[in-house]
Amino acid sequence: MMRSEGAYVRPSGRRRFLREMAITGIGGAVTLAVAVPLIGYFFEAVTKRLPEEWVRLCALDEVVDAEPKEFRVAFQPEDRAAGYRIITGVFVIRRGEEILAFSNTCTHMGCSVRWLAWRQQILCPCHGGMYDRWGQLMGGPPAADLPLLPTRVQGSDLYVANRIVRRGVST
Ligand code: FES
Repeated sequence: MMRSEGAYVRPSGRRRFLREMAITGIGGAVTLAVAVPLIGYFFEAVTKRLPEEWVRLCALDEVVDAEPKEFRVAFQPEDRAAGYRIITGVFVIRRGEEILAFSNTCTHMGCSVRWLAWRQQILCPCHGGMYDRWGQLMGGPPAADLPLLPTRVQGSDLYVANRIVRRGVST
């Protein structure tokens, strides 16, 4: 099923990111409480065999070469009659001819990571997990890259699905 969604998320500036880190440091328990439900929507979608769902991420011409841009997308929850949707962040970036889309959910404990243009890195405000612009792990507590999602081009738009693909395998 193809749906039309996708809202651009402005990247964090230095000041905003440091503020987020400070808030996270003060409220560790709160962070955990908020983060746990966010852990791995895409993993859940796969393990619970949620129906495959494609949502519009952005227009193709919004995808930038070597610079990740984040969009919010909304997927159906497991209970399809629940009356709400699961909103999650997805980064998209162009690498030559290839377009990569990956989740913004840190693979350590599920916090939302941020692209910091001033550091040219994706950072997690919770415990300092570091990823490169392609979502590949660089350091910190996480043990894995950010989950890569399948993409599909339809007309002049880019869609992503609630699935995970192995890195290095074209979608
Ligand atoms: S949740 Fe711990 S580093 Fe991201």
